[in-house]
Amino acid sequence: MSRLKVNGRSYSVNAAPDTPLLWVLREDLRLTGTKFGCGRGHCGCCTVHLNGEAMRSCQIRLGDVEGEIITTIEGLDARSDHPLQRAWVKEQVAQCGYCQSGQIMQAAALLADNPKPTDEEIITAMKFNLCRCMTYPRIKKAIQRASREIRNRNE
Ligand code: FES
Ligand code: FES
Repeated sequence: MSRLKVNGRSYSVNAAPDTPLLWVLREDLRLTGTKFGCGRGHCGCCTVHLNGEAMRSCQIRLGDVEGEIITTIEGLDARSDHPLQRAWVKEQVAQCGYCQSGQIMQAAALLADNPKPTDEEIITAMKFNLCRCMTYPRIKKAIQRASREIRNRNE
């Protein structure tokens, strides 16, 4: 039995220690906002925060994250009202939507670290999160919008 801290709650999980965190989140905890894309660390669909850092949950083993703080898209904001989530709606970013929770989690880690990223910094931070629907320009606009909101709030 492994103990996990996800979105502020503690869970006991009965799975092998080498089970990918992605499967534990989706199959055991039913947190299905985190998606399976490639399973090889290349697409970013499965991005979650591990102690505040964006990580590929398909590449993390359950046994390596006991006691660590894990956040999924469901826990990014208690009311699903994070500035990025609002900006995503305003900019109508999503097309099929499949990659988008991973995109938002990657962007949230960027803005937590750097609330005022340049265009270049946004492109660099997001470049390994792939979108088959090519929503990249809208993703960048939404990150810029959320960045403005966060900065205005803090001034
Ligand atoms: S499913 Fe994890 S990076 Fe693609
Ligand atoms: S919105 Fe379809 S894969 Fe990104």
